[in-house]
Amino acid sequence: MKAMVLNKFEELFGDVNGVNVYFAPGRVNMIGEHTDYNGGHVFPCALTIGTYAAVRKRADRKLNFYSMNFEESGIIETSLDELTPSDAAGWTNYPKGVMWAFAERGMKMDCGLDIVLNGNIPNGSGLSSSASLEVLTGYYLKDLYGFDVTNIDLAKIGQYSENNFNGMNCGIMDQFASAMGKKDHAIFLDTADLSYEYAPLVLDGAKIVVTNSNVKHSLVNSEYNVRRSECEKALEELQTVVKINGLGDLTEEQFEANKSAIKDEVCVKRAKHAVYENQRTIRAVEALKNNDLKLFGELMNASHVSLRDDYQVSCDEIDVLVEEAWKVDGVIGSRITGGGFGGCTVSIVKDEAVETFKQKVGEAYKERVGKTADFYVVEIGDGPSRL
Ligand code: GLA
Repeated sequence: MKAMVLNKFEELFGDVNGVNVYFAPGRVNMIGEHTDYNGGHVFPCALTIGTYAAVRKRADRKLNFYSMNFEESGIIETSLDELTPSDAAGWTNYPKGVMWAFAERGMKMDCGLDIVLNGNIPNGSGLSSSASLEVLTGYYLKDLYGFDVTNIDLAKIGQYSENNFNGMNCGIMDQFASAMGKKDHAIFLDTADLSYEYAPLVLDGAKIVVTNSNVKHSLVNSEYNVRRSECEKALEELQTVVKINGLGDLTEEQFEANKSAIKDEVCVKRAKHAVYENQRTIRAVEALKNNDLKLFGELMNASHVSLRDDYQVSCDEIDVLVEEAWKVDGVIGSRITGGGFGGCTVSIVKDEAVETFKQKVGEAYKERVGKTADFYVVEIGDGPSRL
């Protein structure tokens, strides 16, 4: 991948003198879904796949973007004086958003850049290609302009830009996982205060298999923002009867005792998911520490049911993948991962069952949905780096 972006850079911009190459990973979330904007816990890990960039400073204020994933768009030319979102800017709204967010914090770039990108995260798979692009951008800005930011700052800046430049009210999980990734570890993050710990995720005799449904329903962003406001409404009503800062502050018992404060039935279901999912995540990490993979898997399965029935962010295609996975001997747990409405599932599968898993789930998906699923046995990698 490094050679690919460098070759392309040379082809487009003449030579590669003084060019640096950077990488930032995508992520998969093991458990703790739709808890990150509710002050709850998440448990994602960075992947070894992600986004690469070859970057060099320019003498003027121009920004030249080129993505090997969208070659038909050619070089997209803009400048440091045009850091405003626009539909026409397409994917460049992500790096531009990060540049804008740095400037908002007083970190202004004093010259433009030539940038060639290439990513190996399947598009629209829900494995955080956009967060990896944001973290990548922040990382090369820090390196090239000497901006004084930590990797946690990069996660915050990425989220801020996505919320305020790209109009997606995401939580911090994806950017945090990309910026703070650690090989062979998942990140147990409390989004209430950003305290975190790394938990080893080297599974004895099992693999993490990500299954791509290859569908992405267009309602992802709009429905995401709706869920978020439903949770906010539920929180406000609960706050009239209990003293909490977020839904993540409640145990299941406290929720059950106070849920009558929430007027709307749909909001009750959304809040229930947020509360129970947070507690499941805490328990799952505990189970992993106790080497109880079986319990970890059961909690993953329960997470799926809750996302399907209470949070209603699954879809038929994903439900088929999960149901079929549950039927295969040697599957420890399987659930939807990421924002929902398509994308991927994550499963823990015993080593000896991986091939059968791919075959059976793949065939059933083809038969029931009429589409081809892709399978990736993933490895957990580090955060961003200069290569
Ligand atoms: C998307 C968002 C994250 C998180 C997940 C759901 O990936 O970007 O912040 O809310 O959905 O867990």
